Amino acid sequence: MVLRAQGIHKSFPGVRALHDVDFDLRAGEVHGLVGENGAGKSTLVKIITGAYDADAGLVEAFGHEVRHGDPRARRRAGIAAIYQEPTTVPEMSAAANVFLGRPQRRGPFVSRSDTHRAFRQLTTRLGLTIDPDVRAGSLSVANQQMLEIMRALVADHRILIMDEPTASLGPTERERLYEAIHGLREEGVATVYVSHNLDEVLALCDRVSVMRDGGLVATKPVERWTKESLVTAMLGHVLEKPPPQRRTIAEEVVLRVEGLSVPGVLEEISFTVHRGEILGLGGLVGSGRTELLRALAGADSDADGRLFVRGQERPWPRTVRSALALGIALAPEDRKAQGLVLSLSAAANVSLTDMRTVASGPLLRERRRLARAAEFMRPLAFDASRLSESAGSFSGGNQQKLVVGKWLHRRPDVLLMDEFTRGIDVGAKAELLAVVRRLAAEGMSIIIVSSELEELVEGADRVLVLARGRLIGELGHAEAAVERILRLVFEVEEEAEEGLAT
Ligand SMILES: Nc1ncnc2c1ncn2[C@@H]1O[C@H](COP(=O)(O)OP(=O)(O)OP(=O)(O)O)[C@@H](O)[C@H]1O
Ligand SMILES: [Mg+2]
Repeated sequence: MVLRAQGIHKSFPGVRALHDVDFDLRAGEVHGLVGENGAGKSTLVKIITGAYDADAGLVEAFGHEVRHGDPRARRRAGIAAIYQEPTTVPEMSAAANVFLGRPQRRGPFVSRSDTHRAFRQLTTRLGLTIDPDVRAGSLSVANQQMLEIMRALVADHRILIMDEPTASLGPTERERLYEAIHGLREEGVATVYVSHNLDEVLALCDRVSVMRDGGLVATKPVERWTKESLVTAMLGHVLEKPPPQRRTIAEEVVLRVEGLSVPGVLEEISFTVHRGEILGLGGLVGSGRTELLRALAGADSDADGRLFVRGQERPWPRTVRSALALGIALAPEDRKAQGLVLSLSAAANVSLTDMRTVASGPLLRERRRLARAAEFMRPLAFDASRLSESAGSFSGGNQQKLVVGKWLHRRPDVLLMDEFTRGIDVGAKAELLAVVRRLAAEGMSIIIVSSELEELVEGADRVLVLARGRLIGELGHAEAAVERILRLVFEVEEEAEEGLAT
């Protein structure tokens, strides 16, 4: 046993986050931790690492107590953690982020070339191409996450804690991460692995623990779990999927894009979106999906192309405001940086985009705001009685629901959703998908991006496939199987690599 947590209790004002939790970790095991949004996973993880103080209970690593506010004890215990939200320093270089606090020294001097060499060794091990000198803030969320993983790998830790590390990674990067975790397991490193992707948990982990409502309900070896039994344990009841609604997609073309290009990123992209259609964008991380959404949302001043809104040509929007004026809105991938004001209440965040609801008196305004926010958040399985709490006090998945609610509230004609189910638990995912379908049935057009290709295929009426900034294929709902999308993508990738090799 390398780590043991016993009788852990933790409350936040008004919320019992953990109740009498016992958890243990064995040497060289990958221990999965699953549960609904707000079940207490991240809180438990932060108590294990000493980042939070438990109200009661004991955490021991290698027989030593881990206490809050004692980072040395934690380092002695050899615990490394990758939290749910990236903690990279955007202004610093990629290499500086990885070796933060532990520069590669030669004698008394910090050697830049040694740092670079060590950085390259890591990127090779993970099969990545990241320039050590690039500003971390300019990297995709997936690559920022990779920097955190690299940071945990350099430190030679005995216990590794990962809170949803793959939420924004594509299939190739995931494989590399799994390989890295397997490599560490061989070396005896124990890993706690928090994820909402149950297939991944079942494939990767040796034991799995399920949390529900602040309690740990069961820990079993992976062979004794199935996807269904995990879901039932998480929810406390069997998951009922809402029956798929029949929708007819209108003939009317809401958006027509011709020859959209962003220098170095997107090349001559053309497509149409119908009224009431859910269009999926498939591809690997870095294929241009996020850039395409950003260009449509007016967030990229380098974008150029022809845009027809309901048949009328419009100048390409180069500001978010001009895109909104055309009825196009983006719910971005990085909720911390772009999505939410964490210090404001949940309700204020949801209604932030809609100033029309502002009424005369502040009291009335607050009441209306709460009522309106509740209307949009309830269908997402969000506890409406907590809407006046600050957005920062919610769990990662519930914050994601707030980002979604905020854009549903605004009701654009075309809603762009990047990584739309990122961090959202299985139950709420099904509900979110039902909400998206209902909005589409009411006439909203929605473009979704997800690195979880299964979800994309399930949710979208049609999937456009991107690779290396180009549109390489289009699949109807019936044809769009995950494996077909991947085949299309990998053909292009292989050709490109062969081209480079010759
Ligand atoms: N800093 C905080 N202040 C107040 N409440 C908090 C704080 N952090 C967490 N909570 C509350 O504690 C409970 C457990 O949250 P936690 O973040 O541990 O959930 P989680 O299982 O990690 O969920 P998710 O899957 O959404 O990440 C939630 O009700 C959450 O709102
Ligand atoms: Mg969490």
